Amino acid sequence: MAAFTPRVFSGIQPSGGLTLGNYLGAMKRFVTMQDEGKFETVYCMVDLHAITVWQDPAALTRATRELCAGFIAAGIDPSKSILFNQSQVAEHAQLAWIFNCVARMGWMQRMTQWKDKAGKNSQNASLGLFAYPALMAADILVYHATHVPVGEDQKQHLELTRDIAIKFNNDFGVDFFPETEPVIEGAATRVMSLRDGSKKMSKSDPSDMSRINLTDDADTIAQKIRKARTDPEALPSEVDGLDERPEARNLVNIYAALSETTPEAVLADHGGSQFSAFKPALADLAVDKLAPISTEMSRLMEDPAEIDRILAQGAAQAREIAAPVLKKTYEIVGMVGA
Ligand code: TYM
Repeated sequence: MAAFTPRVFSGIQPSGGLTLGNYLGAMKRFVTMQDEGKFETVYCMVDLHAITVWQDPAALTRATRELCAGFIAAGIDPSKSILFNQSQVAEHAQLAWIFNCVARMGWMQRMTQWKDKAGKNSQNASLGLFAYPALMAADILVYHATHVPVGEDQKQHLELTRDIAIKFNNDFGVDFFPETEPVIEGAATRVMSLRDGSKKMSKSDPSDMSRINLTDDADTIAQKIRKARTDPEALPSEVDGLDERPEARNLVNIYAALSETTPEAVLADHGGSQFSAFKPALADLAVDKLAPISTEMSRLMEDPAEIDRILAQGAAQAREIAAPVLKKTYEIVGMVGA
């Protein structure tokens, strides 16, 4: 295997607000990987992915800027990480076309996200939604990224990314694309709905009470946690006691991730507590950690020109890495003029 520069890539869709799930499952960990200094870090607002389902143009523009503000407010520093929106680096779409020709229809058909999002009416879904994972593989591999931090729901897409890299390398007899490692770690790789512990917390859930949005103010955050669905039992003192208690497990995991500890440590402190005591403690912690992000996001959103400047600068930096990788790919494939 060739030696690759340790490089992190990850992306978030600008398709509506950011949730606590995005923050704990992705963004907060992006910041840690940036600050560890072991990797080059590249973070992307994946607007081309967002339009695989209908997006109102003005709303997409706003959501992209708001997502950029969210990244910065959460601790991504544009002088340490490359921060940009996907459509501005054409190499993503160009490599995606090559990968559309490497990936197989059967691979795409097996993707659970495709099945969930296309639903029963798959004939009416966009072609882009079907090809979504090949674009995702291109996002990652156009940077020869070695590590990709994501939440649990993206695991299957990352396996497919590896399959595409392996097939490309085999088909062309090269050792060119890395087999990227997913980084799915910590207490909150799958944050669940506050209303139903068997469903993922999601920006598309019709109930706003099911999620915490990064734009929620302190009172709203506290109210959503107070009203979160729970069972009547006290918290156990061991994690085994959370089996069959998905709502309790979810709140313990959220507490652990926000306070950068483990569920075991949370239960060592709070085992035996009733939810009437644990929920206010969690609400205080959540407000403490999240309200400053929301305030900073609003401040940054007052200067959209500055956000656009940061994104343009990030896109220029991203192109410097992506362009030579695409050129080499074209050469390998046999494109004249590459
Ligand atoms: P997206 O925009 O749905 O979500 C962005 C990130 O947030 C994580 N996440 C969660 N983590 C824990 N609990 C939750 N409830 C939760 N909800 C969302 C997701 O796992 C993800 O890490 N296909 C991707 C975007 C993408 C991408 C990429 C990611 C495009 N290209 C390349 C990595 C590498 C997506 O739709 O994420």
